[in-house]
This record gives sequence, C-alpha cells and structure tokens, in this order.
Amino acid sequence: MESPPSFHFCFFLFFFSLVLTLWSGEANQNYSDALAKSILFFEGQRSGKLPADQKISWRSNSALADGSAANVDLTGGYYDAGDNVKFGFPMAFTTTMLSWSIIEYGKRLGSQTAAARTAVRWGTDYLLKAAGGLPNRLYVGVGDPNADHNCWERPEDMDTPRTVYWVSPTAPGSDVAGETAAALAAAAIVFRSVDGNYSNRLLSAAKKVMTFAQTYQGKYSDSVGAVCPFYCSYSGFKDELLWGASWLLRATNDISYLNYINSLGANDQADIFSWDNKFAGARVLLARKALVDKDKTYDAFRVQAEDFFCRILPNSPSSSTQYTPGGLMYKLSSSNLQYVTSISFLLSTYAKFMASSSHNFNCGNLLVTSNTLRNLAKKQVDYILGQNPSKISYMVGYSANFPKRIHHRGSSLPSKASHPSHIGCQEGFQYLNSNNPNPNILTGAVVGGPDQNDGYSDDRNNYAGSEPATYINAPIVGCLAYLAGSYGSG
Ligand SMILES: *[C@@H]1O[C@H](CO)[C@@H](O)[C@H](O)[C@H]1NC(C)=O
Ligand SMILES: *[C@@H]1O[C@H](CO)[C@@H](O)[C@H](O)[C@H]1NC(C)=O
Repeated sequence: MESPPSFHFCFFLFFFSLVLTLWSGEANQNYSDALAKSILFFEGQRSGKLPADQKISWRSNSALADGSAANVDLTGGYYDAGDNVKFGFPMAFTTTMLSWSIIEYGKRLGSQTAAARTAVRWGTDYLLKAAGGLPNRLYVGVGDPNADHNCWERPEDMDTPRTVYWVSPTAPGSDVAGETAAALAAAAIVFRSVDGNYSNRLLSAAKKVMTFAQTYQGKYSDSVGAVCPFYCSYSGFKDELLWGASWLLRATNDISYLNYINSLGANDQADIFSWDNKFAGARVLLARKALVDKDKTYDAFRVQAEDFFCRILPNSPSSSTQYTPGGLMYKLSSSNLQYVTSISFLLSTYAKFMASSSHNFNCGNLLVTSNTLRNLAKKQVDYILGQNPSKISYMVGYSANFPKRIHHRGSSLPSKASHPSHIGCQEGFQYLNSNNPNPNILTGAVVGGPDQNDGYSDDRNNYAGSEPATYINAPIVGCLAYLAGSYGSG
C-alpha cells in the first residue's frame, strides 16, 4: 500500500537525523537505564542466603556453610567474577569503589540510591565477619581457587573444598587489610546519615583493621600463596596503607592519619588504578582537600594526582597510555575494561573537584580543564555502552547487541529452577564449550572487553574478554550516576 507523502517525509527526517547522530557520534546513551542495570548485576554475584526480594531470580542460595572449615561464619559476600571463589582483596576494593560512587554521586543516583546502598551492605556485612577474628586473624578468602577453577559448576551445586584463608600477625597482609579498612571506612560514610549504628560498627572495625595493617606489615600473597596467580599483590602494600589511611582520614578527620600518610613516603608514580594498585585513587581522594576545601596542606597530593592524569590523557606529552583505533583506553590485555572503568571514575571525580574550584592544570603545554577529563570519561563510558567499531554494548542486557556467551558459570549453566538436579564438576564443561548463548542473562555485567584493535569474540573461552567482575562494575556505577545526572536518560 502506498503511504501518504508526509509519511515519507517524516521517515526521511528521522533517517537523516539518525545518520547525522551516528556520523557525529554525539548520541547520548540511556545512562539511567545502564545505571540501574550496573547495580542489579551485583545480585547475580551474591553468595549465601538470598533475600525474598532478589530480582536476579535464576540464582539461589549457595555456600551456606562457608567459614565452617575454621569454625566461623563467613557466609555472604560476593563471588568475584565468573567463578565461585570469595576473594577478600578484590571484594574489598569493589566495596570501596561502590561506596565512593555513592559518596561522590549520591544526589545523582536518584531512585537507585537504595539499591546501591544494598549492594555496599552485601559486601560490608561479609567484611565485618571477615574482620571479626581480629586482632588474631583477618579472613581473606573462602574456596580453594584451583579446585574451583578445575570445575564448571553453578554456585548452588558447588562441592569443591571451601578452604578458609586468613592473614595474622605472623603471616601478615597489609595490602588486603589496608583495602578492607578502606572499604569499611568508606561504607561508614555511606551509612552515616541513614543507619548510624551500622556506620559506627563499620568505622570501629575499619580502625581495627587499619591498625592491624600498620602493625604487621607484609604482602598477603607471601602469606597466603593460594591467592596467586589470581589476585597476587603485585604492587606491594604501601599503596593500600596509603589508601586505607586516606579513607580513615576522610571518615574521621583525625589528623594522625595524615601524619601517618606523610610518614609513609608513598611516592611511586602511577599510570593505572585497579584492585591491585591504589596510588592514583588515594591521591585523587586526598587532592579533594586541596581543591574543594582549598587546604594547602594537601597540595602535594594534588600535584601527584595531576601527574597521573598527564600519564592517561591521549594528547599529553607524558602520556604512557595506549588507545585503540576506536578510542578505548587500553592498559592490559586481560580484562582491560576494569582499568577503563576505574580510571574513568577518577577522571569524572577529579573533573567534579576541578569544576567546583575553577581549577585547571597543565601537562607540558597541554591545558587540562574539567571538561577535558569529563569528555574523556564520557567517551570511555559511551564506548562501553556501544559507541564502538564493533557496535556492541559491553554491558550485558543493555541495548539490543551485547555479549551472549559470557565466561560465567551461573549464567552459562541452566538454572536450578529449569534443571533441579545436580550438575557435577566435569559434567558442567559441556556448557562452557557449547556455542549456544547463555541461558541466564547476568543483567548489567560489564565484561573484560575488546582487544587492542577493538575486536571482540563472543566466546566463553575468551575469558580475558568475556568474563565479568565485580571490580569492573563498581566504578562504572559512579560514572553512570554522574552522566545520568548530567545528560538525562536519553
Ligand atoms: C542504636 O544503638 C543504640 C545504642 O546501642 C540503641 O539504643 C538503639 O536502639 C540502636 N538503634 C537502632 C535503630 O538499632
Ligand atoms: C531509558 O531506559 C528506561 C528504562 O529501561 C526507559 O524507561 C526509558 O524510556 C529509556 N529512555 C529513552 C529515552 O529511551
């Protein structure tokens, strides 16, 4: 049937504007949609007894006896990624970054505020249990990682040894302890105005864990070999002593933490920010005092933070950061998007501090304004959400085209509801190796991402690209809240 001419004209206008937006690359993503999904993801990573309001319904209770091997209750917390191990070090970093997202962007989280706090609390309830054995023990993990990785099993079916790992005064771990202190202190700020009692518990535990980190110094991977090569502490522990003390300073304003920070001599240069390396994050956190509070005492941290950004910005003379042809920051080949989300969080947060204090800085002769940092952060987030050469969203469940074969046991195996009987360790591998899309959508999960040429293979065995992780998602929560608040939903 022939359509009236006006229809043709409307269609032409629509098509023309579509081409124009695609060509100019200026279309904004639906940030509020992505924000809600990025938080929902954490439900899929939950360990322990699930509450009645659990929305990711293909998951059920798991690991209900965690801790029993050491006669303690260590149920709850998060599985780190596509496996069923609870690694305390990345779990604590995840909790710190989720908390920081709420602290900086709380007003912009809008209707997602309660869900974001719940996601923090799922982490801190566990971390409080992990810290419950102090001053003798800080529990740093549950589940033998090698045994776990040799199986492809749903968390609900897990039958590998749930070995309990801890650090102690004679087998120290200042890195994992410093990060745990950071997480508890940051979360204490999150809950201060909504649950004072809980906030006080978090803060007093944070102080205890920080004292433990300072008193018994050492690298946790020297004490607990089983965490290598999964979450070995490559950068050592000085960065976590700095980071933990910086969060305690923020939570308490107790100047003894500043004196401690100044005594550390933590002056290593940084061009990365991750679950392992916290120097840049600590400097941005401390530089807030120099910018927002105009306190000159903190100026050295501002200079160090700006040195970091000069190593990240593409046009800076001191840049040591590679970009893909499509414009994605490219740090390391395995799970690169974790660096992109963590660094984008620092870019948008520092942009916010700069804007509030009308501050600019220079990288050689490159003038850096708050817009320079904000635009780079937005470009990275837009790339992740689909404005990239492969035209794929690296967030599962966002837009029409997203990874369908993510490297994630629970997502790739049939749910307990659809397949109630046990699926054994080896039996599960047929699902890893199948070409079918995953039966369960892990909504909101951001995967490891593309290679250095913007290429992506939607393949479960490509774990460097197709595995999600809690520490990829936690920082993007803050970035998305920031963008949702600035650009609306469309
Ligand atoms: C908070 O703690 C105080 C003192 O321990 C107690 O009296 C009060 O009932 C607690 N409030 C809540 C909401 O739990
Ligand atoms: C953004 O996503 C939300 C949630 O899915 C939806 O309700 C809204 O209509 C979307 N906005 C636009 C402009 O597409």
